Amino acid sequence: MDKIRTAVIGIGIQGENHIKAYISHPLVELVGVCDINEKRLNEITRRYNIKNSFQDYNEMLENLELDLVSVATPDFLHLDPVLSVLDNGINVLVEKPLALRFEDAKKMVDKARDKGVRLFVNFSNRFNPPFAVLKNKVESGEFGKVLYSYIRLSDTIYVPTKMLSWASKTSVVYFLMSHTADLVKWIYNNEVSSVKAYAHFEVLKNLGIDTPDYVIAFLTFNNGSTALLESSWVLPESYPSIVDFRSEFIGTKSTAFIDTTFQMIEYAAEKYTFPRTYGASILNDRFFGFVKESIHNIVDSLLNKASPYTSEEDGLANIRILNAIEESYKKNKEIILK
Ligand SMILES: NC(=O)c1ccc[n+]([C@@H]2O[C@H](COP(=O)([O-])OP(=O)(O)OC[C@H]3O[C@@H](n4cnc5c(N)ncnc54)[C@H](O)[C@@H]3O)[C@@H](O)[C@H]2O)c1
Repeated sequence: MDKIRTAVIGIGIQGENHIKAYISHPLVELVGVCDINEKRLNEITRRYNIKNSFQDYNEMLENLELDLVSVATPDFLHLDPVLSVLDNGINVLVEKPLALRFEDAKKMVDKARDKGVRLFVNFSNRFNPPFAVLKNKVESGEFGKVLYSYIRLSDTIYVPTKMLSWASKTSVVYFLMSHTADLVKWIYNNEVSSVKAYAHFEVLKNLGIDTPDYVIAFLTFNNGSTALLESSWVLPESYPSIVDFRSEFIGTKSTAFIDTTFQMIEYAAEKYTFPRTYGASILNDRFFGFVKESIHNIVDSLLNKASPYTSEEDGLANIRILNAIEESYKKNKEIILK
């Protein structure tokens, strides 16, 4: 392949970022998009001048010749479109989390192997600059062994109440901890052996959204290292950023403190905010940020110009951890991962 033909299924907030990433890659031709929401489909097709648009992904897969399809439907709606893409013998890039249940994730990975195509999960934070720098220091041995980390990735209540219509069908475990559980596994280069978690239901439940307000999970790794993950969905909307993302890593030789909440800009207007700068932004008319980098890495890997930063195994390992977190808080016991 010297050029790849792509399409996107689910063109909401994140699907639009896939579109921007594809049209900004010189060796990609974005040939089609699909969304069940006709209004959104028309708006996006016009905005990016996309030739082919569909409300039914099976129709799209039958009609277009494709090398890679992104699936960016809501967390609980990844399985069917992913299986259809794979059934057509096409590589797939799925948004995190791969699925909500390990069995579904396994079905997807088995199907990809059966069809001889690749399945990638978009763990975009592997390209988030401070985490990539830290990974590099751990890999080189400079950091020493990571003994312990604390990572907090939370959102304001705007996300489950106004941004996502499907918040009650997922949780902070799948929407947010999918990122942090992958980051610790990747940075430690080790597998999680046990999980103990706690969840609290109050504010969102009282609003009719049956999902935890926050979850805290304590992870132990095979090599004895540990990590404490914390994610909340009830920060007040007055908070200057929708996302609160801070962490500390303590190693045998070094420590690292990472705070990406503050995006190098404080903006005081009617409201005091930290505008997002380096995740997925349009800067000087160019699509910029680590979300683009992670998608371009997948494209480049299919063009044999790079090694992919994530694998099918990473997607499966992630769901295994997230399912254990959920099981642990539901049963109030430590879950041992086999
Ligand atoms: N990697 C990241 O940093 C990152 C960031 C945000 C969201 N995400 C993930 O991306 C996914 C999408 O999240 P979002 O915030 O864009 O959600 P969203 O609700 O904004 O968009 C989802 C879109 O999928 C469409 N859709 C639903 N069912 C469909 C179907 N059967 N066929 C075609 N389209 C369908 C909806 O109409 C909607 O437009 C989620 O899994 C989320 O966790 C990842």
